[in-house]
Amino acid sequence: MHMHKFEKIWLIFGVGALLVFLSVLGVSAFYMGNQPPSCLATIDPEKVDETAPFTKPGLNKVEGKDWDYELVFVASAFAYNPGEVQVPKGSKVKVIATTKDVIHGFEVAGTNINMMLEPGFISEIVTTFDKAGEYLVLCNEYCGVGHHMMSSKIEVVE
Ligand code: CUA
Repeated sequence: MHMHKFEKIWLIFGVGALLVFLSVLGVSAFYMGNQPPSCLATIDPEKVDETAPFTKPGLNKVEGKDWDYELVFVASAFAYNPGEVQVPKGSKVKVIATTKDVIHGFEVAGTNINMMLEPGFISEIVTTFDKAGEYLVLCNEYCGVGHHMMSSKIEVVE
């Protein structure tokens, strides 16, 4: 079968691009451990206050895990608990959040943290706060008349 030179070049380019893409995906998934959110962590939204770790909202030191602290947030119309929290700079933190009523957002301005909080589900992200300063946490899902007042503050301290 005769194949034109350009056709061959394109074929090699296409297969090459596919291999590069699959390699990047493979390294990301199996070597770096990146995976999409599972949405498997569920909770009874009416029993949030009695369910660990939401019995202790705020920053909690943990031992023997891949992260140093767990930063627990409970959202409800129209506030976050805690309304303000301090985090030591450079520490690895797992943010764990849920909502007691309707869907809320959890965006930390100036970072790539942006989660949706759905009743019945627990949203989590592991992150490191490398830069000291104040970070505004805000709700970016319209949740009712007090939506625009819903915020919290993470203060990253030295
Ligand atoms: Cu909570 Cu908008």
